[in-house]
Amino acid sequence: MGYRGFCLYLVLLALSLEPQNLKSEELTCNPTDLRALAGFSNCLESAIAGWNSTVSPDCCTWSGIICDNSTFSGRRVVGLELGSKRLTGKICESLAGLNQLRVLNLSHNFLWGSLPAELFSLQNIEIIDLSNNDFLGSISNKGMCTISTRIQVLNFSNNHFSGQVPKDLANCTFLNHLSFDGNSLSGSLPETLFQLKNLSELNLQGNRISGPLSNGIVNLSNLVKLDISSNLFSGVLPDIFGSLARLEHFSAMSNSFTGLLPNSLVNSPSLQMLNLNNNSLSGSINLNCSAMKNLVSLGLGSNLFLGPIPDGLSFCRGLKALNLARNNLGGELPNNFKNLKSLTQLSLSNTSLSNILSALRILQNCRNLSMLGLTRNFHDEQIPNDVSLEFKNLNSLILANCQLRGPIPQWLSRCHKLQFLDLSWNHLGGNIPSWFGKFESLFYLDLSNNSFKGELPKSLTELQCLISGKMTIEEPVSSFQLYAARQGGPSLSYRQISGLRPTLDLSYNILQGPIWPSFGNLKRLHVLNLKENNLSGPIPNNLSGMTYLEKLDLSHNKLSGEIPRALVNLSFLSTFDVSYNQLCGEIPEGSQFDTFPDTSFEGNNGLCSAEYCTCQSEQTRHSPGEKKMTTIGLPFGIGAATGFVLTVICCFMSGLSLP
Ligand SMILES: *[C@@H]1O[C@H](CO)[C@@H](O)[C@H](O)[C@H]1NC(C)=O
Ligand SMILES: *[C@@H]1O[C@H](CO)[C@@H](O)[C@H](O)[C@H]1NC(C)=O
Ligand SMILES: *[C@@H]1O[C@H](CO)[C@@H](O)[C@H](O)[C@H]1NC(C)=O
Ligand SMILES: *[C@@H]1O[C@H](CO)[C@@H](O)[C@H](O)[C@H]1NC(C)=O
Ligand SMILES: *[C@@H]1O[C@H](CO)[C@@H](O)[C@H](O)[C@H]1NC(C)=O
Ligand SMILES: *[C@@H]1O[C@H](CO)[C@@H](O)[C@H](O)[C@H]1NC(C)=O
Ligand SMILES: *[C@@H]1O[C@H](CO)[C@@H](O)[C@H](O)[C@H]1NC(C)=O
Ligand SMILES: *[C@@H]1O[C@H](CO)[C@@H](O)[C@H](O)[C@H]1NC(C)=O
Ligand SMILES: *[C@@H]1O[C@H](CO)[C@@H](O)[C@H](O)[C@H]1NC(C)=O
Ligand SMILES: *[C@@H]1O[C@H](CO)[C@@H](O)[C@H](O)[C@H]1NC(C)=O
Ligand SMILES: *[C@@H]1O[C@H](CO)[C@@H](O)[C@H](O)[C@H]1NC(C)=O
Ligand SMILES: *[C@@H]1O[C@H](CO)[C@@H](O)[C@H](O)[C@H]1NC(C)=O
Repeated sequence: MGYRGFCLYLVLLALSLEPQNLKSEELTCNPTDLRALAGFSNCLESAIAGWNSTVSPDCCTWSGIICDNSTFSGRRVVGLELGSKRLTGKICESLAGLNQLRVLNLSHNFLWGSLPAELFSLQNIEIIDLSNNDFLGSISNKGMCTISTRIQVLNFSNNHFSGQVPKDLANCTFLNHLSFDGNSLSGSLPETLFQLKNLSELNLQGNRISGPLSNGIVNLSNLVKLDISSNLFSGVLPDIFGSLARLEHFSAMSNSFTGLLPNSLVNSPSLQMLNLNNNSLSGSINLNCSAMKNLVSLGLGSNLFLGPIPDGLSFCRGLKALNLARNNLGGELPNNFKNLKSLTQLSLSNTSLSNILSALRILQNCRNLSMLGLTRNFHDEQIPNDVSLEFKNLNSLILANCQLRGPIPQWLSRCHKLQFLDLSWNHLGGNIPSWFGKFESLFYLDLSNNSFKGELPKSLTELQCLISGKMTIEEPVSSFQLYAARQGGPSLSYRQISGLRPTLDLSYNILQGPIWPSFGNLKRLHVLNLKENNLSGPIPNNLSGMTYLEKLDLSHNKLSGEIPRALVNLSFLSTFDVSYNQLCGEIPEGSQFDTFPDTSFEGNNGLCSAEYCTCQSEQTRHSPGEKKMTTIGLPFGIGAATGFVLTVICCFMSGLSLP
């Protein structure tokens, strides 16, 4: 029986139930409710798993249905909990028949279409969760709360609703949680919203709401969480936070707010999380830490604040995450920052800070520090070589684009937890120390655009994490952003470490000698960039062992010999560049190699794509420091197809993040 047949059956069943006696009605669900459910099910395109009247004619036993215990005319349906049931299709007005319904949860499905007005004729409804579907159209002017006066939770997050934030919410006096985030709402906030005195959580982030945040918000004195980030709000922040005595979480990130930090905001005793990143706020950072006793996370990055970094911030002793990046602060790090013992995430990138030695000596006292962003500061200073420096818990260090001079310091070798290190775009020199290979968790290393010389340390091919892929990643809090200097321009920022592809970038240095065959051990590496060095010798066959490799750039070196055919086995390779080397022989064909442009191979006089061409020079050469091997690649075909299938499966299992 198809679902439509099933629905018809439900209707017939409903009709047949009505004349039955009280005893059986006591046990089963109310016939009106059964009919409404049949109508609801009929509008859907998918059957609902666990709704089967053959198995049980009593709808109260069906999955996701909650009934009360009334005996008068059968048990009434009071809850419809159908989250994550893979439902598709529309919801229709028959839902209105469930007139005792208190909880409607249809979240995480694939429902679409506009909302039926009848949704708001449910007199007893308290909780409506339609989040994470594909609903669209306007939510406004459906007279919500005229009949449905008892609504406490409205969650419409992550749909495609458009138009304005509804004006007719004023009668929703019980409303506690209101979430419209992740839609396409526009216009300014209606003043009626500010009559919802019982509201404790208001989520409006990720829409296109414009205009100021009006003083009216002063009336929402029960607010605990207010998130209006990623909208088009402008104007100054209202100075009303003294009245929001329960506010713990305020996020207004990525809007166009201007002006100073309001006095009541920088004196709020309740705030735990304040995120104002990416606005145009100005003036000084004048937080009153004597008042802000609960502050844990502070994001003021990417604004127009002027310095210096206030010493006063060091009295916010509970602070765990602090982002002041991209402001015009200047000066040195205040000495009292050594008292921020709880600090785990600190970003001061691009704040015109000077004196890196002093900054590091202060920050090593923050023993729990795990993420430190200092990119674009300290121009032209020497990288400190102070052996006593110690950062035991550091897992991410971003110190790029500072024009730092000197060799890689020894103290770095004791940062055993390092996962992410970016020292690119500096003037660092000397050899890359072999102890890099001992960082068991390192999966992202960017040393590009420096003056490193000598050979590639062989130990890099022993990086555990790039071999096994096993690691746990601590993500930055939402108010914290890591700015990596490069990868698609100097302003790219990463909010998720797990979104970073495992990378070794040593490009733009003066490294020489061979590419070690053991690089092939780095199965979990996604990006290998050795562009613009003086590397010589052959491209090892073994590189085909880097099964996850997506990008391989060996251009502008002095590599010779043939391109190993085995590289055809790299099924995820989407960028490949060996231009401007001294390669010869046939360019491999098949698989990904059919997609690479000619420019990937140019600047090599001996490369050709004809079948008969071979390297005219010697057929064998010495592989660096190891046994002799031929440059002619392994015959293509051995296990290529199975290799492809396996890697695809592994990749889907691990998703985008590292397992
Ligand atoms: C209901 O359950 C019966 C018995 O298990 C089964 O034969 C029938 O196909 C089911 N109907 C639907 C619509 O799933
Ligand atoms: C109905 O009665 C059962 C058993 O007495 C009880 O566990 C359940 O919570 C009641 N349900 C409602 C909705 O009151
Ligand atoms: C709705 O159901 C989902 C699970 O699918 C759950 O995460 C969510 O908390 C529920 N909503 C409410 C308001 O209880
Ligand atoms: C929708 O919001 C409510 C109130 O904040 C919350 O309880 C519920 O879990 C949310 N639903 C989902 C699917 O997260
Ligand atoms: C609010 O309720 C009153 C009284 O029930 C009604 O007259 C009014 O139209 C309602 N307002 C809205 C916006 O629904
Ligand atoms: C306000 O919310 C509280 C629970 O947070 C509830 O007990 C109270 O009844 C609500 N008041 C109104 C007027 O809705
Ligand atoms: C705020 O509350 C006061 C007093 O209850 C009321 O007079 C005023 O209209 C409210 N303001 C807004 C914007 O709702
Ligand atoms: C900063 O905000 C603007 C809008 O004001 C937005 O377009 C941009 O994507 C935001 N940048 C970041 C890094 O979030
Ligand atoms: C800072 O907060 C303390 C404690 O609330 C208060 O006594 C003091 O006046 C505030 N200072 C300023 C400058 O607002
Ligand atoms: C550095 O910060 C200034 C503002 O202080 C900004 O204009 C500039 O774009 C930032 N540069 C980078 C690379 O982030
Ligand atoms: C440092 O981190 C440890 C482990 O997470 C925690 O137990 C300790 O309380 C933290 N120290 C401070 C001062 O926050
Ligand atoms: C190298 O870094 C300098 C700044 O130190 C920058 O101006 C230059 O564009 C960078 N070169 C490359 C190729 O990234």
